[in-house]
Amino acid sequence: MRLIMLGAPGAGKGTQAARVAERFRIPHISTGDIFRANIKNGTELGKKAKSYMDAGELVPDELVCDLVADRIAQPDCGEGFILDGFPRTIPQAEALDEAVRKAGTPIDFAVDIEVPDEHIISRMGGRRACVSCGATYHVVYNPPKKEDVCDRCGGKLVLRDDDRPETVKNRLDVYHAQTQPLIDYYKDKKVLVTVDGTQSMDDVFSAILEKLGE
Ligand code: AP5
Repeated sequence: MRLIMLGAPGAGKGTQAARVAERFRIPHISTGDIFRANIKNGTELGKKAKSYMDAGELVPDELVCDLVADRIAQPDCGEGFILDGFPRTIPQAEALDEAVRKAGTPIDFAVDIEVPDEHIISRMGGRRACVSCGATYHVVYNPPKKEDVCDRCGGKLVLRDDDRPETVKNRLDVYHAQTQPLIDYYKDKKVLVTVDGTQSMDDVFSAILEKLGE
């Protein structure tokens, strides 16, 4: 199964992609997580990406397209993958088309998680992310067992720099201008499925499985 998760920042792409990846035993590839790991490790890519991410802007296409094409060509993606946060622009979608065309393995579904902007602002303020493993929580909707400590690895939980309200507003503007056009792009390719992301996390997951024919 080859899947793409679409949706605004904070729509729940990462939350659901992790569950879907576990269910289908396919790699969960988050470009945001890849950039954050590179920032943490002080790599050249991380240094280039950081200023864009902190401002809520997209990292330039040329820094992300080859990275994803290389990642999905790895042996662990042979049975499929789930892309979370990529593509985010039409040129990225075209680059992905080219990569899957060469591999002869088309995208099966693009899953759009729909959440209105008003919900997003409150969700982001409550999100906490683990500095060690990247797992995400929400102080109300998905709290860790112990405050500010990751259930999975014991790492420290923090508010992401780009989850501050002024940056979230810019991320939403960038999403509407540059990423939302992908909904029509994948609708035209007849692989788009849409779920209501305002439901509980379990209900969103069930809705996704149903749309995937599970
Ligand atoms: P990235 O990390 O991809 O951020 P994003 O797309 O903005 O998405 P988020 O991770 O913020 O949210 P999400 O939809 O995964 O929601 P989550 O499941 O965490 O990218 C960060 C930055 O990297 C970008 O701004 C850009 O600069 C750069 N970048 C990355 N990819 C790029 C690319 N391809 N091109 C260019 N630049 C790129 O959920 C959010 C919160 O809500 C959590 O607290 C969660 O617990 C809670 N929640 C989830 N579902 C529910 C629910 N149903 N009910 C209640 N709460 C819920």
